[in-house]
Amino acid sequence: MLKLDLQAVEAFLSREAIDWELRQQERLLQAALKGEEPYRDSLGWLRPEEWASNAAVEEFRQLAEEIRREADVLVLIGVGGSNNAARATIQALCNSGKPQVLYAGTSTSAYPLNQVLEQCEGKSVYTVCIAKNFETLEPGISFRVLREYLRSRYGADYARRIVTIGTIGSHFDTLSAEHGFRFLPFATNIGGRFTALSSVGLLPMAVAGVDIREVVRGAEDLRRRLIGEPAQQNVALRYAVVRNLLYQKGYRVEMLSSFEPQLQGFYRWWRQLFAESEGKDGRGIYPTASEYSEDLHSVGQYVQDGSRILFETFLDVETPTASHTMPKTDIDDQFAYLDGKDFAQINRSAFEATFQAHSRQAPCMRVSVSTLDAYHMGQLFYFFEFACYLSGRILGVNPFDQPGVEAYKQLMFQKLGKS
Ligand code: PA5
Repeated sequence: MLKLDLQAVEAFLSREAIDWELRQQERLLQAALKGEEPYRDSLGWLRPEEWASNAAVEEFRQLAEEIRREADVLVLIGVGGSNNAARATIQALCNSGKPQVLYAGTSTSAYPLNQVLEQCEGKSVYTVCIAKNFETLEPGISFRVLREYLRSRYGADYARRIVTIGTIGSHFDTLSAEHGFRFLPFATNIGGRFTALSSVGLLPMAVAGVDIREVVRGAEDLRRRLIGEPAQQNVALRYAVVRNLLYQKGYRVEMLSSFEPQLQGFYRWWRQLFAESEGKDGRGIYPTASEYSEDLHSVGQYVQDGSRILFETFLDVETPTASHTMPKTDIDDQFAYLDGKDFAQINRSAFEATFQAHSRQAPCMRVSVSTLDAYHMGQLFYFFEFACYLSGRILGVNPFDQPGVEAYKQLMFQKLGKS
């Protein structure tokens, strides 16, 4: 089960202040667990069974199995909430590379797209294109390129290699029907960044070989736990309350850190979730992430000695994800003190030392999971989604819209001549 440790924060926030605020927010917790009326159109993720029922999961698994049998490469097209959860999970858990998952539709630069096309050469390629609003430029332009590429390689048979996930009744839906692409509905009542537990997150995960039943089970168990936990112990409320109290004290940046580099995609998912949900109305904690131990040699300096604007949330995977024993050597490299030690042990020591050192200078929390597997990915997704909902509400913003992203889009569309 996921754990939250706030002990180190108590050097910066008194336990009484935390308890008092938890009592103030008890009513919000109860209302949020039920789903507040004003946000009804955005709360399809709240009960995972709504879009990830046994029947839906079975449908995703069957389609995924068919793709897995035939594909060497899956090109996943989508941006932001339309690919982050799947990418996070695949990067964290899948190293078999069958099929290899490549990502397109995340950039307006041709460079990554050309790289993807190069890697497709000579291989059996399938694509899943995901867009709630098919006007989004990045997936739209990449989809056109991939579509034409598949058509030129496979002729009339190309359509069965394309799966689309979009809004029912949208142009994307019509276009898919006209050209014979397999179409799955994008959850109508979920915004992109909350779609981990729906077709958007689950289908590509299943194609990559993730046991999506476990992802959903993890999320459902976490939801049950949040329903059962009173406000004072509720992990999601405690996290949301503490980050808001820190924000009120002037800590404007939250850094998510871990010592498992395969969580890189998860950082990206988490950053988008909090940035788009909270950064509005001139408010919000800026979410950033660090990949340790590498980043100890860069931002580690800032955390220790820089401006006192940030707090840190350490993501702790308790069971090592890999093992490698230091080999013996007869060369005097002055690392003899590590003879016989495993990298897992070295990594753990680096983690604990960093946590201890950073806690002296900045408020540090720890979110722990026992193992990095499908079940705990489900727990992490649900925990942060629900905590983000609470946190945005405590902050006083609507966590489910993102009006700010329209500003550049209008200007860009003008420049590109879109009518
Ligand atoms: O969370 C969100 O709603 C956004 O970040 C979207 O996921 C992102 O903009 C992609 O949108 P679309 O699926 O419409 O291409």
